[in-house]
Amino acid sequence: MPKDSNPTTNCNVHTFNPYDGEQLRDPHAMFAEMRRDRPVFWSPELGMWVVSRHGDICSVLRDPARFSSQDAFAIGADLTPEATALLATGHPHTRTPIDSDGPEHARLRRIVGSALNGKMVERWGPRIRELARELLDGFADAGRVDIAAEFAEPFPLRVILDMLGVPLADLPQIKRWSDDWFELIFARVPPAQHVARVESYLEFQRYCERMIAAREANPGEDAMSEMLRAGREESVPPSRAELISLIAGAFIAAGHETSSRMLSNTMRVLLTTPGAWAAIVADPTRIARDLEEALRFESTALGMVRVATAEVVVGGQTIPAGARLYLLYASGSRDEAQFRCPASFDPARANVMDHLGFGRGAHYCVGALLARAEARIALELFAERLPGLRLAAEPDPVHRSHTTIRGPVSMWVEWDVA
Ligand code: HEM
Repeated sequence: MPKDSNPTTNCNVHTFNPYDGEQLRDPHAMFAEMRRDRPVFWSPELGMWVVSRHGDICSVLRDPARFSSQDAFAIGADLTPEATALLATGHPHTRTPIDSDGPEHARLRRIVGSALNGKMVERWGPRIRELARELLDGFADAGRVDIAAEFAEPFPLRVILDMLGVPLADLPQIKRWSDDWFELIFARVPPAQHVARVESYLEFQRYCERMIAAREANPGEDAMSEMLRAGREESVPPSRAELISLIAGAFIAAGHETSSRMLSNTMRVLLTTPGAWAAIVADPTRIARDLEEALRFESTALGMVRVATAEVVVGGQTIPAGARLYLLYASGSRDEAQFRCPASFDPARANVMDHLGFGRGAHYCVGALLARAEARIALELFAERLPGLRLAAEPDPVHRSHTTIRGPVSMWVEWDVA
């Protein structure tokens, strides 16, 4: 058997392909082989260098001058000419913190961060609990639910929209727009669908523009008003196009699917690790540590991209200037060189915070406080209301193809109803 083949997943480092949702169901054996045999390798499928070890990933993240985030995601890069022409009729896609560097990054991050700091998250805590409770009330008597679809999916988007002051009735439409846009960037959309997806993106832009105008005319205490206020304080205030990108991209799109998948991943880990759920039910103060370990053990953040600004050596491999690196956070968080027994879910491990679930360095997730609060509140409620929660035997959790986020989009759980 060739040394880079993997009997468990029927994949090897040459066929590693996050566009294949099936591979994402359980990629850890394949990642372990990468770390052992090919820690840095060229993936023709992705057109990027894949970096899989914790130490190599962190050395890249510590050096933003040589590993740029700018243009890491290029919306419109592979669009059909017709779709490209249509895209040009909208607001130009401007950068967000995630795909910018240096002072531009700091400025954009300050604006988004103004709506995601500790004060805002604390202020929204009671409302987050209410939104979670409403959803749970909807199925608590059913004894069985697809928790990924019926809870994890809508809950973080409800929170984000509520924080922005957007009517929850608009949620299904916003979800479609956001999914269409994310898929254009992170998945593979067939060319025949490009025009429709771009149309959807332009509608999303127009919607955000109307929201911004409404809040400018009538500011409040909501997250959008905060961002508008923070923007006005900048020496270079954000343009209209920048505000749209920040709200649509850095807040709505980045702020919900990640949290949705993280909730499903965490639930799955807690319900499949013997004793883990019972321990939380008995002592909900364990939740914070369990969450961190779940972020490590089943990393929702699959991988992120950086661009080499000069010829560099990573993990002994020379990488040419201009090449793209795909930092496999989900692999780094399972690195045996960093974590003892990485394949065990162990919230008591001393370095539980060393995971890469929210990235590291200048681009560390600006929404981490909110994501943690949402997950903690959700788990507290489930532990209180559905202590007998268990994973249903069938059907298996379903994963969707994605280069950046990993987690079940469908996962059935059950509990006894009195
Ligand atoms: C569990 C949920 C979440 C996960 C797993 C997650 C993961 C990540 C990761 C790994 C990064 C680093 C990107 C890089 O290294 O280039 C990141 C950055 C970012 N996240 Fe999150 N995120 C979550 C929730 C959120 C939320 C709730 C928001 C906003 C409401 C958000 C907004 C952002 C933004 C704007 C950045 C870019 C920050 C920067 O580049 O300075 N995320 N996130």
